[in-house]
Parts: sequence; C-alpha cells; structure tokens
Amino acid sequence: MADRTGIQPGAVALVTGAATGIGLAIAERLAERGCKVICAARRLDRLAGVARKLGKDAIALKLDVTDAADCKSLLERLPPSHREIDILVNNAGHDVGGRKKLEQASIDDLAAIVETNCVGMLRVTHAVLPGMVKRGRGDIVNLGSTAGLRTYVTGNVYAATKAFVHSFTEGLRMDYKDSDIRIIETLPGITRTEFAEARQRGDAAHATAFYGKYPSVMEPDDIARAVVYALEQPRSVTVAQMLVVPTREA
Ligand SMILES: NC(=O)c1ccc[n+]([C@@H]2O[C@H](COP(=O)([O-])OP(=O)(O)OC[C@H]3O[C@@H](n4cnc5c(N)ncnc54)[C@H](OP(=O)(O)O)[C@@H]3O)[C@@H](O)[C@H]2O)c1
Repeated sequence: MADRTGIQPGAVALVTGAATGIGLAIAERLAERGCKVICAARRLDRLAGVARKLGKDAIALKLDVTDAADCKSLLERLPPSHREIDILVNNAGHDVGGRKKLEQASIDDLAAIVETNCVGMLRVTHAVLPGMVKRGRGDIVNLGSTAGLRTYVTGNVYAATKAFVHSFTEGLRMDYKDSDIRIIETLPGITRTEFAEARQRGDAAHATAFYGKYPSVMEPDDIARAVVYALEQPRSVTVAQMLVVPTREA
C-alpha cells in the first residue's frame, strides 16, 4: 500500500486563490484526501460556494494577499479548529494588465502583479510559517511557473515575479532544512483557467483564442494531482521542484 504519511488525516490546509482554477482544483483534491481546507481569495461569494461543495470541514476565508492587515490577522480570523496550518499552498497570482511591452502597460497594473505574486506570497508565508516552526512540521507549496525559468516576449514582469517565486522557495528550503518543514515549488506550463480572461479584464473571447493557439493545454486538476503527489510522499522526502507541462507543448 502506498505510504501516504505525508498528508496526515485531518491536516489543515490553507489554499490562497482557491476561488477558481488551479487553487480550486488543489482545494478539491486536498479535501478528498481528508484535509480541513481553508479556501482563501478576495471574492467571498465564490469561496462560499466552493467551501460548501467541499464539505463541513472546509471554510471560506476572505483574504487579499496584497492587504497587509488581512494577512497579519489571518490566523486570528480563523476558528481554533483551523488555526494550526499544516499545509500552505501559495497559489494566488495574476497577470492582470500584463503581457504588453513595458511602455504600453500601466505602471499601477505592473506594480499590482508584483504585489500579488511576490509580496503577497511573502506576507502569507510570514503569517503562517512561525506556527510551523513552533510545531517543527509543515508543508509549503509555492506556485511558480515555467515562465520563471524562461521568459517570453512581453513576459517581462510576470515572468520576473515567477523567478522571484523560484528563488524565494529555494531560499526557504535552505533555511528550514534542519526541520521537518517541506518547501515545494510547482512550475506549471500552460493550463486552462480564468487566468487569461482575468489578464484581459474579463475578455472571454480573447482567452478562448489564447488557449486555442497551443497544441495542448493542461487542466487545473493536472496540477492539483501533481501537488498531492508531492505532499503524499513520506515526510523524509521533499519533492523540491515539479515542472509540469503539456505533453505536446509547443
Ligand atoms: N494558468 C496557467 O497557465 C498557469 C501556469 C503557471 C502558473 N500559474 C499560476 O497558478 C496560480 C493560479 O492561477 P490560475 O491559472 O488558476 O488563475 P485564476 O483561475 O485566474 O486564479 C487565480 C486565483 O487567485 C486569486 N487571487 C488573485 N489575486 C488575489 C489576491 N490579491 N489575493 C487573494 N487571492 C487572489 C483569484 O481569486 P479572487 O479574484 O477572488 O481573489 C483566483 O482564485 C497563479 O499563481 C499563476 O501565476 C498559472
């Protein structure tokens, strides 16, 4: 029988950006594995539906990762049953207003991408990690991207934020290597989510055309299964980096 000691029954998992896409799929898979999932994002209406679907142990948490007060008060806003977070999935991220040459993009949009993908990840980790250190155990999964390894034309700021995720994740792994805290980086390639539509501020036709340009696109659950695979490994094993790409990627 597979050794699944990597995920304890009843483990508490916080997934940021769980309203849609990859975060939602990870929340679903973790709930299926018996985790008490905290589904976090800005749109509480979407999250409430998600948490209801996941069952009685799942809760919705309004969390804007760019809001310092939101992040700082994160633990105290949770019920005691969900305060000791065993698994943190730093998934919230976007490229709204991105994929443009620099002079064509709004500086506020670009700054917001950095605030969310980099500073937001930093804030949430800073709020959650001390508990893991105190308990001497925990798992942090950071969502990087193939863009963090190799940029593309007009990938400028988004790709740079994912390079940040890569270095930040590697640095954390080094800092906590003497503990039972596992730090995991997941680097998906192109995956069909609301990401492309959000980037164009709700232009669904653009998003459909964008994904249509690729010979093959993954689904959010493809990434969720990879994340669960990493977490299920015995605690003596850290799947440090997972590059997950479509088989027919161009
Ligand atoms: N799709 C891909 O091809 C792909 C490839 C590689 C990596 N990724 C990464 O995967 C992660 C998830 O993206 P996705 O593709 O699943 O896109 P998505 O469907 O657009 O999901 C993004 C999620 O992040 C949340 N979010 C955005 N800003 C937030 C904030 N300030 N605070 C809290 N939550 C916030 C959104 O919910 P609210 O709007 O309700 O807050 C949403 O639930 C991102 O980090 C992305 O960079 C995606």
